[in-house]
Order: sequence, then C-alpha cells, then structure tokens
Amino acid sequence: MKVLKSPLCRLVFVALLLNFSLVLFTPLNEDATIHIDSDAVSSIKGKQTHELASTSANDSYISTRIKVGHGVKNMRIEEDLAGARAAIQKAIRSKKNKIVPKGSIYWNPRAFYQSHVEMMNRLKVWVYKEGEQPLMHEGPVNNKYAIEGQFIDEIETSNVSPFKATHPHQAHLFFLPLSVARVIRYVYKPRRSTFDYQPLRLQRLMEDYIHIVANKYPFWNTSKGADHFLLSCHDWGPRVSYANPHLFKYFIRVLCNANTSEGFRPNRDVSIPEVYLPVGKLGPPNMAQHPNNRKILAFFAGGAHGKIRKKMLKLWKEKDEEIQVHEYLPKGQDYTKLMGLSKFCLCPSGYEVASPRVVEAIYAGCVPVIISDNYSLPFNDVLNWSQFSMEIAVDRIPQIKTILQNVSRDKYRELYSNVRRVRRHFVINRPAKPFDLIHMILHSLWLRRLNFMLTSSY
Ligand SMILES: *[C@@H]1O[C@H](CO)[C@@H](O)[C@H](O)[C@H]1NC(C)=O
Ligand SMILES: *[C@@H]1O[C@H](CO)[C@@H](O)[C@H](O)[C@H]1NC(C)=O
Ligand SMILES: *[C@@H]1O[C@H](CO)[C@@H](O)[C@H](O)[C@H]1NC(C)=O
Ligand SMILES: *[C@@H]1O[C@H](CO)[C@@H](O)[C@H](O)[C@H]1NC(C)=O
Ligand SMILES: *[C@@H]1O[C@H](CO)[C@@H](O)[C@H](O)[C@H]1NC(C)=O
Ligand SMILES: *[C@@H]1O[C@H](CO)[C@@H](O)[C@H](O)[C@H]1NC(C)=O
Repeated sequence: MKVLKSPLCRLVFVALLLNFSLVLFTPLNEDATIHIDSDAVSSIKGKQTHELASTSANDSYISTRIKVGHGVKNMRIEEDLAGARAAIQKAIRSKKNKIVPKGSIYWNPRAFYQSHVEMMNRLKVWVYKEGEQPLMHEGPVNNKYAIEGQFIDEIETSNVSPFKATHPHQAHLFFLPLSVARVIRYVYKPRRSTFDYQPLRLQRLMEDYIHIVANKYPFWNTSKGADHFLLSCHDWGPRVSYANPHLFKYFIRVLCNANTSEGFRPNRDVSIPEVYLPVGKLGPPNMAQHPNNRKILAFFAGGAHGKIRKKMLKLWKEKDEEIQVHEYLPKGQDYTKLMGLSKFCLCPSGYEVASPRVVEAIYAGCVPVIISDNYSLPFNDVLNWSQFSMEIAVDRIPQIKTILQNVSRDKYRELYSNVRRVRRHFVINRPAKPFDLIHMILHSLWLRRLNFMLTSSY
C-alpha cells in the first residue's frame, strides 16, 4: 500500500486504528499500556503515542505499531488487514439495517458481525511443520484439556479448515502447534518428586522451538512474535513464557487459565473457555428445561478445590433447599439434569480460575454465576458477560441467596434468553462452523492481529 509510505497517511491510519479499538473493545479496568519496543518508538509520532496512551478507560486494547525486526513485512498482508479494518469501520458507521445478530450480548454487534465476516473472507493461519508427535501436531481431544487437541486437529491435521494457509506468505497468523497437556504427560516422566515437576523443561522446549522457526524463516523476527500464538488449556499454559518475558513480549498466548494476577494480559492474550469433552462427544448432553420447570434457585456440585470453593462449601454445603451446594452429588442424582432444572449455576474458581462449569451451565440454559478473582472471562473482547451471567464477589459468598432472590423475574428472563443466545459461541463443531467456539477463538486472534500493524524503519 503506497499511502503507507507517506507520513501524513500514516497519521490517518493510526487514527482509524484507534477509533476501531474504541468502539469494538470492552471496558476493562486494565491500565492502558502500549506494547512497543524502545527501539520502535522512533517510528511512532510522539503526539500519537500520547493520544493512544491517554484514551478513556473504555479501550481495553491499544493499537500498536511494531517496527519490523530483521525481516521484511508482507505488504499484501498489511493491505489486506487495512481493508478489513476499513470494512469494519464502515459497518459500525452504517445506518442501514444489515443482518446483524440480534441483541446486546455483544459490546458492538455490528462491529462483531462485520469483523467475523472479514475473518471468514480473509484469515489464513500458517501452522509450523517443525516438531514431532506426540508433543506437537496433536493433543488431547477429550476431557478437560480437549480444546488443545481439537484446535490442532481442526486447523492442521484434518485438512478441512478454510483458514489453513498453504504457504506461510499468505498467513496473518502463525500457530505453534505444541500441546502443553501432552508435554506434561510425556516429558514429565517419571515424576518422583516435586523437583521433577518444574516448569523449566516446558519452557526450554518452547524456547527451542521458537529459536528453530525464527532461524529457519523470517516471520518471527519480522513481527517479533506478535503474530505468533500458542493455545493451551493446561494449568501450566501460562508458564511457557515466565522464564523469558522478553522473548514472549508480543507473543499471543491463547489460554483457559486466564488469571490476570498470574500475568494474563487481556490486550494481547486470548481467554478461551474450558470445555470438558467426554469420549466421543463434542459437548455435554442438552438437558435444559423450560424456566417454569426450574425449581432450584442455584446449583453447584464439585470438589473443594482452592480457597474460593472451600469458603463456599463451608457456608452452603447441604444447608439450603434452594441453594443446592454439594461436594459429592447424592447417589442417583444426575449433574447435567440438575443444571437443567436450576435457574442459576454457581461457577466458583477451583485450583485455577477457569472451570468447565461455565460452559456446562450455558449448555443447560442455567445462568452462570461467576465467583472468582482476577479471571478474564472468555471472549470478553466481544461478549458483554453481564448480559448473560452474574458475578458475585468472593467476599459476598455469604449473601448468595439474598443476591439471587433479589433478581427480578424480568431480569432473570432476560438473562435466561441471553444464555440461550450466547450458547452457539460455546458449541464445538467439527468441522468448525461460523460463530461457534473454534471460530470465536480464531476471531479473538484475528482481532489481536487487526490491532497492530507492522511498520518499516524508514
Ligand atoms: C467508549 O467510548 C466511546 C467514546 O468516548 C463511546 O462512544 C463508546 O460508546 C464507549 N464504549 C463503551 C463500550 O463504553
Ligand atoms: C532472527 O533473529 C535471530 C536473533 O537476532 C537470528 O539469530 C536469526 O538468524 C534471525 N533469523 C533469520 C531467519 O534471519
Ligand atoms: C485480584 O483480585 C483481588 C481481589 O479481588 C484484587 O484485590 C487484586 O487487585 C486483583 N489483581 C489483579 C492483578 O487484578
Ligand atoms: C490467580 O493467581 C494468583 C497469583 O498467582 C493466585 O494467588 C490465585 O490463587 C490464582 N487464582 C486461582 C483461582 O487459581
Ligand atoms: C453490558 O451489559 C450491561 C448489563 O446488562 C449493560 O448495563 C451495559 O450497558 C452493556 N454495555 C454495552 C456497551 O452494551
Ligand atoms: C437488590 O436489588 C436492588 C435493586 O436491583 C439493589 O439496590 C440492592 O442492593 C439489591 N440487594 C442485594 C442484597 O443485592
């Protein structure tokens, strides 16, 4: 794109970017930070940098310009992204009634819809071919880390994904197909003591892999890793980057374990839901009942993992007919069925912030009640969670009953119908379908890629 070379046009471009992120992204209370290398500052107009940094609290996402490292940026890709940004901007401003998904479960339905369309038309992901099974190119497809294997299989192995690039020069994003769950399973053996169970081995493996691909191809160096990502649902996913924060400065970590006090960066990382997949299934059974049949006000069953659950069980376990809190379900009771009979499903954090309960609740048409600290909720870059869930602060656990009883009938009906509307974004299809969970993951990645541009150092 020739115009990029003119400083004047660059200015316009940055303004567009800024505008874009303002409208599309959620009001998170993170401090606005600009992720720019000190050596890249010269390519940014001082005044604009200041404006970007001082925008209102409602932009969770600051557009970034990353000066190309030792590599040549791909003009075709940058133009393509510019086209997508322009189309999204236009859709946001458009007064015409387009087919947008109904309702307000989104921060901005128009922006989301158009952005999804642009993604469908354009996005290509290159999956690095280096590395071998079972640590790379495959992962668990069942149980609680299932999304690691399902995602790798969808994008790389099954060869059905329209998003899979056939050549790295087509790619907007680069996927490092390593499964952390597999590494823990195969590399951490034997496990004789806690000494055998240190994150260092995982970190080395990851860094070695990055060095291999950064030496072999220009792409990592060009973007400093900003268009590269790893997806992990394992508790240890976040730790891949701890040993070498510099290397991972721009890298995108797609994580279930999105704990902001463990270094999850909502602006750059992607929070995805944890989905428990029984063998041979792509989700829990649907046992949702009509709201009139939901006689239980709130339901929870699960182990006393972590301090939040301990606190909740201590106060509520088997204490109240309406607030059904169990550590172990009484014999003969069906977990999924009970969720389908409950108005609200309590989803306290366990050992980790994420829990498959949130998705199970949504499937069962049960309004999730999030009880956690520092949890950056899945897809909160496009979804307004307060439209289809409740949040109860940990120190208000004693008031669960009064808080939930206090929800008016109309408010509950609204939450309930929004849960049903948001459900499709948490459904796994193989092959993936528009707006489903895998597409939502890709869309979150696409947004992060839209929000920076590579600039040359002339
Ligand atoms: C963010 O701020 C902009 C401009 O101040 C405003 O138009 C927009 O509605 C706000 N978005 C949200 C999600 O509050
Ligand atoms: C990328 O950068 C590293 C470190 O500066 C360098 O060793 C490597 O050769 C570069 N890769 C390519 C493909 O030029
Ligand atoms: C984590 O949550 C606690 C309790 O709500 C809060 O005091 C703290 O500021 C949070 N930390 C971060 C990094 O968000
Ligand atoms: C989130 O991270 C903080 C800091 O490491 C930790 O204290 C807290 O227990 C974590 N939350 C959960 C639910 O694991
Ligand atoms: C998000 O949802 C809340 C609660 O329903 C609502 O008050 C708020 O206006 C919504 N925000 C946007 C930007 O739609
Ligand atoms: C009950 O709801 C009202 C209005 O919605 C609110 O002002 C009040 O604080 C709520 N009480 C509790 C215990 O949550």
